[in-house]
Amino acid sequence: MGSSSNSEYSSRVKRMIEQTGSGIDEGSFPLKIFNDQDIYDAELRRIFARSWVYLGHMSEIEQPGDYVRRYIGEDPYILTRDETGQIQAFLDSCMHRGAQFCTADKGNTSHFRCPYHGWTYSNDGTLQGMPKKAEAYQGLDPEDVELESAYLDTFKGLIFGRIVDEGPSLEEYLGDFKWYLELILDPTEKGMTVVTDAHRWQANHNWKTSADNFGGDNYHVFATHQAAEETDDLDRGPWKKLPDNRRGEFNHLACTDNAAVSYQITNDRETYMGYPDDITEHFNSDLSEEQTELFRRSLFYFGTIFPNTTVVHAVQSGGWGGPWAAIRKWQPRGPGEVEVISWWLVPEEYEDNDAFMERSHRGWESLSAGGAFESDDLTIWEGISESTKSMTLDIRESKGNMQQGMDGMSDEVEILEDPMHGPGEVTTNGGFYDERGTRTLLSSWYEQMSREETGANSGEQ
Ligand code: FES
Ligand SMILES: [Fe+2]
Repeated sequence: MGSSSNSEYSSRVKRMIEQTGSGIDEGSFPLKIFNDQDIYDAELRRIFARSWVYLGHMSEIEQPGDYVRRYIGEDPYILTRDETGQIQAFLDSCMHRGAQFCTADKGNTSHFRCPYHGWTYSNDGTLQGMPKKAEAYQGLDPEDVELESAYLDTFKGLIFGRIVDEGPSLEEYLGDFKWYLELILDPTEKGMTVVTDAHRWQANHNWKTSADNFGGDNYHVFATHQAAEETDDLDRGPWKKLPDNRRGEFNHLACTDNAAVSYQITNDRETYMGYPDDITEHFNSDLSEEQTELFRRSLFYFGTIFPNTTVVHAVQSGGWGGPWAAIRKWQPRGPGEVEVISWWLVPEEYEDNDAFMERSHRGWESLSAGGAFESDDLTIWEGISESTKSMTLDIRESKGNMQQGMDGMSDEVEILEDPMHGPGEVTTNGGFYDERGTRTLLSSWYEQMSREETGANSGEQ
């Protein structure tokens, strides 16, 4: 664990955790937590082992035998649907010597055969065969050998897993955010389906930096994306339905326990997020009147579920396309490294509509590694990674700022009470002048980082 001695590790990490906790009400946080090896090591055990980590979508493993390779923290898991239709996730580590036995990112198989000595597991995780069993392992009952598996739970097609089975159920964990998730990722009768393989790229930034950005940081758009904004023709597409003050009262930020979403709506206009007119025929009848009303006026949603799942459903302004929906995972690869995975989803009703798919794909691509927006962000996020690694910030215990939306900071941020805006704390000018999203996500970070570890080889160092 890290390079520090055990006692240093403990006191440094504890101090940063405490500073984060006490800073939430003041709107400050220790900048160092955005790139620190000891904090990162603690995050893997305290956050990633026992949080609900996004693993995949039901539509990716529809048939018995389908599997995809996914990670919890940095641990490689195989998400499978077994022959009986059950969904499971196994650690890709053979119980003989630990060899990895899954070499493909996805596929369909009833069995996995370990390449090292040939033990064979069925896709329900049980050991089925060992070469030369009669000669080598007479007394070993294969039923006593099982792959390590994760605890799984699902919501609206989303499959989440955790290694330590403690804390709230997925349903409890998502809480009020379920209302938004239903709207963002399950608005039509047939539901969403993942289209094609995900876009993936490696970047040199901390997973929290991007999770925070997508949890409602619209403030950065003015500076970071100035060029993209200027080249955009805002008079085209559904955005032309916006009144002139398009940034004004129509931007909202909704914060629930463990999640924050920024969304933009039009005022009493029918935008339906840029969907074809027949979208109204496909609405999911389970949506409440308020959810349907919000969808009618919607333009975009960007949100993060702590720790590292981002959801997007948007129509891009100008000529960039959409609507598209995406799930993103900020896959940690180290304190200053991340693998970004972005899945594209569309309502099943539109999968065969070529014109729609072409536009939707363009929207999804606009917010990808080669898109107009992402390249702006990446340079800055990598800079954050370099600066927050610094010993200056460590030695000085320097603090960053997240005071927007707190008392005395802005006349323009106001808490909304209309149920149409959804549950949780919803504010106007969300994300542009309100850093409630960052405070929400760092509250979840504090809650989980300050909780004692359980299980073998855990606890205080
Ligand atoms: S490590 Fe898998 S069979 Fe030996
Ligand atoms: Fe951005």
